[in-house]
Amino acid sequence: MRIPFITSRQRDFVLEPLAAKDSDAVSLLHREDFVRPWTGGEFADLLAQNTVFGYAAREVGRGNEAPVGFVLARLVAGEGEILTIAVARAYRRQGLGWKLMDAVLRELHAQRAEALFLEVDETNAAAIALYRRLGFREVGKRADYYRAPGSGANGALVMRRDLR
Ligand SMILES: CC(C)(COP(=O)(O)OP(=O)(O)OC[C@H]1O[C@@H](n2cnc3c(N)ncnc32)[C@H](O)[C@@H]1OP(=O)(O)O)[C@@H](O)C(=O)NCCC(=O)NCCS
Repeated sequence: MRIPFITSRQRDFVLEPLAAKDSDAVSLLHREDFVRPWTGGEFADLLAQNTVFGYAAREVGRGNEAPVGFVLARLVAGEGEILTIAVARAYRRQGLGWKLMDAVLRELHAQRAEALFLEVDETNAAAIALYRRLGFREVGKRADYYRAPGSGANGALVMRRDLR
């Protein structure tokens, strides 16, 4: 599967299934935004599990076509879960996050899943706006979930998107 698309800024991208060879590159992307970034080895271990899948967005004509965004998800017993998603800072607000989430939703529909869940830091306005636009609604909250060095802990919103 290789899905070409053009973003609002007229740049060419492709979406492809995330592969073990992308583990180190997506670990670098993860490090841009997460307090406890996952290592390449951790990504490789997750991708080796048959319940885990993901997609990478690559800019066409950029030489090595390293991922500029990715999403990792898991499907168990009819329920999907977003494990993580990130788009490189220079590539945000062009629709890549939406495309990546849409690819997960399409795969879950194809697998006849019932719902997709995720957890998000309650202060992460960009991600929450994206998820709300995709039809997710809040179904719970966990207190003191995300802790950043030198600051207090933030709560996490648990969000759900029905698929049936
Ligand atoms: C969340 C994230 C993946 C969104 O990726 P993105 O490619 O910038 O998102 P998109 O361009 O597809 O945005 C789609 C819609 O989401 C909403 N949105 C995205 N970023 C937003 C922002 N900073 N402020 C307000 N709304 C935003 C908008 O409705 C946007 O549509 P619009 O641009 O037409 O207004 C990106 O900000 C990111 O990587 N953040 C750091 C990692 C992270 O927080 N991951 C989520 C952890 S749960």
